Amino acid sequence: MSGTIDELIARIKDLPVSEVIERYVHTTRKGTQTLAVCPFHDDNSPSLNINDQRGMWFCFVDNMGGDAIKFVMLYRKLEFMEALRDICEKLGWSFDDYHQQKKTSPKIEMGKKLLGNTMKLYRKLAETGQHQPFVDFLEKRGLSQETAKTYQLGFAPPNYALFDYVSSIKDEKDRSFALSVAEELGLIKKSTYGEKSHYDTFRDRIMFPIWDQFGQVIGFTSRSISDEQKPKYLNSVESFLFNKKNILYGLHLAKNVIRERNQAILVEGNMDQIALYKNGFENSIAIMGVALGESSVVKLLALTKNIVLSLDNDQAGWRAAIRINAQLMEKGVTPQFLDLGEHKDPDDFLTASGRDALAKRIEEAKPFVDIQIERSLPEKVPELAERKLDLLKSIFEILSPLKNSLSASERVILYAKRLGLQSDSASIVKNYEEYLENQNRPTSRALPPQENRPIIENENESYEISEEKVKIDRQLTAVETRLLQNLVQHPELMLRDEIAELLDFVGNNEVKGYILKLRELMYEIDETEYASVVQSLMSDDHYSAELTAVVGGALYRYQEANLDEKISLKMIIDIKKNLEVEKLKEEKKHLKSLHGNAQTDEDQKQILAQLLQVDKKLSELKSSTRNKPAK
Ligand code: UTP
Ligand code: MN
Repeated sequence: MSGTIDELIARIKDLPVSEVIERYVHTTRKGTQTLAVCPFHDDNSPSLNINDQRGMWFCFVDNMGGDAIKFVMLYRKLEFMEALRDICEKLGWSFDDYHQQKKTSPKIEMGKKLLGNTMKLYRKLAETGQHQPFVDFLEKRGLSQETAKTYQLGFAPPNYALFDYVSSIKDEKDRSFALSVAEELGLIKKSTYGEKSHYDTFRDRIMFPIWDQFGQVIGFTSRSISDEQKPKYLNSVESFLFNKKNILYGLHLAKNVIRERNQAILVEGNMDQIALYKNGFENSIAIMGVALGESSVVKLLALTKNIVLSLDNDQAGWRAAIRINAQLMEKGVTPQFLDLGEHKDPDDFLTASGRDALAKRIEEAKPFVDIQIERSLPEKVPELAERKLDLLKSIFEILSPLKNSLSASERVILYAKRLGLQSDSASIVKNYEEYLENQNRPTSRALPPQENRPIIENENESYEISEEKVKIDRQLTAVETRLLQNLVQHPELMLRDEIAELLDFVGNNEVKGYILKLRELMYEIDETEYASVVQSLMSDDHYSAELTAVVGGALYRYQEANLDEKISLKMIIDIKKNLEVEKLKEEKKHLKSLHGNAQTDEDQKQILAQLLQVDKKLSELKSSTRNKPAK
């Protein structure tokens, strides 16, 4: 198996966390839990809790936590990439398969060259303006010359245009190699009769080049020019360059806009992607067919977590959306649903109602999962309790990819009420959690299927465990650590004015930046999304391992229970005071050294005055702590 680093990360994340951690430290299973003696402090009882369902570990003493990669970074003191390499070694996977620039073979070179030249050929033919079907197509679909150019739309004439081009290669060896590669890519097909050895696959068709995210042409899709011509869409065959599942059409154009707007609109067909793009929705991408491959999921989620599903308004589109939604929920993301009303697809919607109407629909879009649940419920709530419970169970099933996140349990409670169930929220949630446990028990998530199990080349060696205590490099002061913990555990505090004031005193730029980022997000998300947002921010690899471990620990606590807000606020005020004191002491040190080096009396006098002021502030702060406990 080979692929990109993103694919490697996805593959590691697909494993139960315990599967990775048990390669480093001894673990014991207790019911559904996996425990270990924590390597990060002098631990006697196992206080490291490994929760496969949440995909996290957590130490109750250190208040730290994170995913498997974070564990290895801390435990082995490794950088992110080094940790990936280390995990591969432990699991018997080949890191180089994911990492090394694959040496491009002559076949790949030739394939890319052929695809690029084929695109140019079809484009040139289209540009002549001599092919009426192409001219008509642009006109009928309202596509400007500019759009045609952006997408390099081409025309494949009803003859041997491509074959003739490839056969014009002079060198006989090169020519026969090119022909065989063109055949493998499905651009030409072997002929059984006639004088030519091959004929063109795409004839009398509008050609849409397909690019990978780097802008390399990897294949084509093509549309018929009349209703009689079948099939309507004909794609390149699957090949060493073209893998339909892993294509997001338009990604090379949309990538930066998706990042900037922090939103992606996912549609079903290339014409829909083009229609959206030319109407100003440049953050759109299309799946080819009905499936979204795992590597596409990784690529997409690296750009944004805000995804609007806007597949075709028919049964196939709905079914595809259900699958894609579940795939994304597995990653803690809840996509929105774009309601197209009576229109067949986004393209039709735009033609009929225009871009403003579509923008409004996008703004009003609700989470897909809620629409799915609502559509699954009967119009009238059934009377029988048994029937109601059946429906509740079907809701559990829909929500189960979200596992026991707040976003799921909030909904479980909400819909139980909607069904008129009498049980209290706690027992409804408990019931849901039991449902999840049962669902997980025998096969599904416990271990990956046999063929995906890590291959252990040398079983004994791989399992050899060197238990060592790891001293963590502390970059954060105790006060900063407490600040992070409090804020992550009590996000409601983040929006208070006290925090803005407090941030002035935070010296560590990483901590400050992190809090500001989280604060900014808080204005945009709702409470149900909080845990998953923090979690995904944690895998952002530009935060240090220590910071994310502290955040991970606090997040774990957040999901366990909520502390009293008043107490937390008091802590915040206390922390602010401590930060202020720390900063003033720093200033004092600085002024003292200045004083020692001062050249003139005048300078000395000035510095002394400043010193006195700092001292005054310090004693004020101290007395306020003593006399007046924070309100
Ligand atoms: P549609 O038939 O809804 O096409 O198929 P469309 O996107 O609306 O295209 P226009 O507007 O008629 O030009 C939806 C998608 O299903 C796939 C294509 O990816 C298409 O975009 N499809 C459809 C095929 O692969 N083959 C077909 O024969 C038809
Ligand atoms: Mn259409």
